[in-house]
Amino acid sequence: MMLKVFRFSPGMEKPRYDTFAIEPAPGKTVLAALFEAQSRYDDSLAFRYSCRGAVCGTCAMLINRVPRLACRTRLGALSAGDSDPPHSHYDLPHLTEPWDKKEEVLVEPLPNLPVIKDLIVDMDEFFTRYRSVEPVFRPGGPDPEKERLMTPEAVRELERYTTCILCAACFAACPVNGKNPRYTGPAALAKLYRFHIDPREQQGPARLRTADTPDGWWACEFHTNCRRVCPKDVPPDKAIGHARQELKDLKKKETGPGGDGA
Ligand code: SF4
Ligand code: FES
Repeated sequence: MMLKVFRFSPGMEKPRYDTFAIEPAPGKTVLAALFEAQSRYDDSLAFRYSCRGAVCGTCAMLINRVPRLACRTRLGALSAGDSDPPHSHYDLPHLTEPWDKKEEVLVEPLPNLPVIKDLIVDMDEFFTRYRSVEPVFRPGGPDPEKERLMTPEAVRELERYTTCILCAACFAACPVNGKNPRYTGPAALAKLYRFHIDPREQQGPARLRTADTPDGWWACEFHTNCRRVCPKDVPPDKAIGHARQELKDLKKKETGPGGDGA
C-alpha cells in the first residue's frame, strides 16, 4: 500500500506530493500510516492529531478527496472502496493531482482553509465563524429550584447537533464555503440551531434571527456534503432547512394572511 501525501512548507514555491510505502496490517488507519511514514522515511512530515479515538476532531484531512478523520479511516476499507460517502460534486480546481486508486491512498489538507505545513491547516477562519454565532448556552426564564428538566424527545433532538467535534470536515466539503468567505458555514449554523431548539434557553426566535441574512441560513445551496462527510452524523443541512422554514412561517405570521413570507 502506498501513501501519497501532500507536502508544503512556508517558502516553497509550490506544493509537491511524496509517496511512502506502508506495511499493510489489519485495521491500520491513515493516522497510523502517517506515523509510519514519519518514523520510517521523513520525520519532518507534519500532521495534527490528539485523541486517536475520533473524539477531538483534530485529525480531519482530505483522504482520497473526501474529508475524513485520519484516526478513524482504515486503509483496508479505502482500498476496498467501501468507505466513500456519497458525495455530490464540489469544485476543487487547485486539487488536480492524479492518484492510482487501487494502489495509493491520497492524503491532502482540508480544503477551504489555508495550509500551514503539509497536512496542517490554519483553523482560525473556521473558529472565527463558529464564534460568530455566540455558541454559549444562555438559560432563560427564572432559575429553577433544582435542574432544568427536558423531555426525552427534546434531548434526542438536541443530541443530533451536540455531538459535533469541530473537526471542520463539513466546512471543507461545503462548496458554498469555497466561494463565499462570509458564509457562516455548516458547523456554526448547526450549533446555532442547537441553541435555538434548546428548551432551556427560551429565547423564542432571537437565535434564529441572528443568521437571518444572505450569508447565514440563506446562503446554503443544499449540496448536503456537510451531512454526508460528518464523522458524527450531525445534519447541518437539516438544521438549516428547519431554520429557514421557521423563519418563513414567522414572516408569514408577521405579514398576516396573504402576506409574502418569502
Ligand atoms: S458538524 Fe460534523 S463535520 Fe462539521 S465540524 Fe461538527 S463533527 Fe465535524
Ligand atoms: S485524533 Fe482526535 S479525532 Fe482523530
